[in-house]
Amino acid sequence: MKKVGIIGVGEYLPEKVLSNADLEKMVDTSDEWITTRTGIKERRLVSKHEAVSDLSIKAAKAALRDAKVKAQELDLIIVASITPDFQFPSVACLLQNALGAKGAAAFDISAACAGFVYAIIIAQQFIARGNYKNVLVVGAEVLSSITDWQDRNTCVLFGDGAAAAVLSEVKSGGILSTYMGCDGSASELLMVPGGGSRNPTSHKTIDNRMHYIKMRGNELFKIAVRSMQEAGEKALSLCGLSAKDVDCFIPHQANVRILTAVASRLGIAQEKIYFNIQKYGNMSSASLATALCGAVKEKRIKKGDIVLLDAFGAGLVWGACVIKW
Ligand code: ACO
Repeated sequence: MKKVGIIGVGEYLPEKVLSNADLEKMVDTSDEWITTRTGIKERRLVSKHEAVSDLSIKAAKAALRDAKVKAQELDLIIVASITPDFQFPSVACLLQNALGAKGAAAFDISAACAGFVYAIIIAQQFIARGNYKNVLVVGAEVLSSITDWQDRNTCVLFGDGAAAAVLSEVKSGGILSTYMGCDGSASELLMVPGGGSRNPTSHKTIDNRMHYIKMRGNELFKIAVRSMQEAGEKALSLCGLSAKDVDCFIPHQANVRILTAVASRLGIAQEKIYFNIQKYGNMSSASLATALCGAVKEKRIKKGDIVLLDAFGAGLVWGACVIKW
C-alpha cells in the first residue's frame, strides 16, 4: 500500500458577512446568547447567484495551485456537500468541467458535517491501492439555501463556504489511520424532510417549511461529544498514538462547547484546538475543510506534526483521521 498525504489546500469564503447583531434584527435572539451558547460571532453568506459549485471552483483552484498539480493531472474529484447545485448532476461533475480536469472521474458524497473526513478516507483508498495518483477532495456548502431564517433555534448557527485538498502519494508521513462510524437510528434528529422521494416538493412541503434544516440541537449535543470522542480515540489507537502525541486538533466546528468538551475528554490541551467557528459558524462539510486550510495557512501545523481531524454530523455519522504532516 502506498503512503497517502495532503499535498495542497485552498479555501473560498463568500464576502458577505452576517453578524450576530444582524441576526438580532431578524429573529428573537441576542449576540450574548449566540456567543455564549455557540461561540459564533459572524458567518459568511453567498451572494444571490452563487451556488456550491462556484465556491468549490475557487477553493479547488487554490488547492491545486498550493499542491502544484494541474487540473489535467487529477484522476478523481470527490465533493462532499448536502447543498449541491442540483439534485443531479453532481457538483463534482460541474467542477470537473469548470477545471478542465478531463481525465478525472467525479462524484459527490452525502455525509453532512463528516463529509470532508469521509471524502479524505475514500480518496486515500484509491491512491493507497495504486489506482489513482492525484485526488481532489472538496467540502462545500451553501447552508443559507436550506436555513429557515424564521427559526432562531437553527438560523444563528449556519454559514456558507468551501475548501479543498489535493491528496497524493507521499514518501513519508501522511495519513496514519482512519475511522468512520454511523448510527442511522437517530437520523430524525437532524434532517431536511422535504424535497426528496419521501416527501416530494409540493405546496404542502413548502407551506410546512419542510425544505429547511430541522434540528433537535439539545439531543444532538451529547451524541456529538460522545461520537467525536469515540472517533478520535479509535483513530489514535489504530496508529498506536495517544492524545498527548497530537500537535493540532481540528474538529468539525459545530459549537465551541462541543469542541472543548471533546478535547478535554480525549485529553488534548485546549490550546491545540483549531477554531474558525467564531468567524464562519457551522458550514457542515466545509467547516472541517476550511479549518484544515486555516490551520495550514496560519502555520498552526508544521512538517512532522501529528494532526487529528474529527467530525460528526447528520446521519448520524462521524469519522476521524490521524495525519503526520
Ligand atoms: N436565541 C435566544 N434563545 C434561543 C435561541 C436563540 N438563537 N435558540 C434557542 N433559544 C432558547 C430556546 O428556546 C430555549 O429556551 P427555553 O429554555 O425557554 O425553552 C433555550 O434557548 C435553550 O435552548 P437549548 O436548545 O437547550 O440550547 P442549547 O444550550 O442546547 O444550545 C445549540 C442550542 C446551540 C443548538 C446546541 O444544542 C448545539 O450546538 N447542539 C449540537 C448541534 C450539532 O452538533 N449538530 C450536528 C452538526 S450540524 C450538521 O450536521 C449540519
